[in-house]
Amino acid sequence: MHKYEKIWLSFGTGALILFLVILGISAVHQGHSPAASGIETINPDHVRDDERFKEPGLYESKEEGFDYDLYMVASMFRYEPTEVEIPKGSRVRVMVTTPDVIHGFEVAKTNINMMAEPGLISKYHTTFNKEGEFLVVCNEYCGTGHTDMTSVIKVVGSEE
Ligand code: CUA
Repeated sequence: MHKYEKIWLSFGTGALILFLVILGISAVHQGHSPAASGIETINPDHVRDDERFKEPGLYESKEEGFDYDLYMVASMFRYEPTEVEIPKGSRVRVMVTTPDVIHGFEVAKTNINMMAEPGLISKYHTTFNKEGEFLVVCNEYCGTGHTDMTSVIKVVGSEE
């Protein structure tokens, strides 16, 4: 082999290794997860035992500035709860997680659209001002039952 050929070959190999090392270090360093600010985590294997998601549904909010906390579990291939009623005008913290794979939590005709990822609790703060039935769908292909993943949020006016 020609001398220059050898030099170029080792230069190329060296550069490749260097880039892979940099990539590896930065991946580990950043933990390969979304921006860390305010992210709440959950053990995906114990979603059913977790206080927060034991019985998914609507609860009075423990957080100041909110009326309700809506806990929802996305799993192959359903949403829990399958139906929920929310009083019109409520300020709600919507929280979603999943024990299995990535799902796309979308509430039709609203701005609510977020990923549900195993290990993380996805949050969305909103006020339900419009009365009606809002279909919850999954917009991230998650398997054969993907299209069966639905739930309904019913925003109801007060009886007064
Ligand atoms: Cu869950 Cu698609």
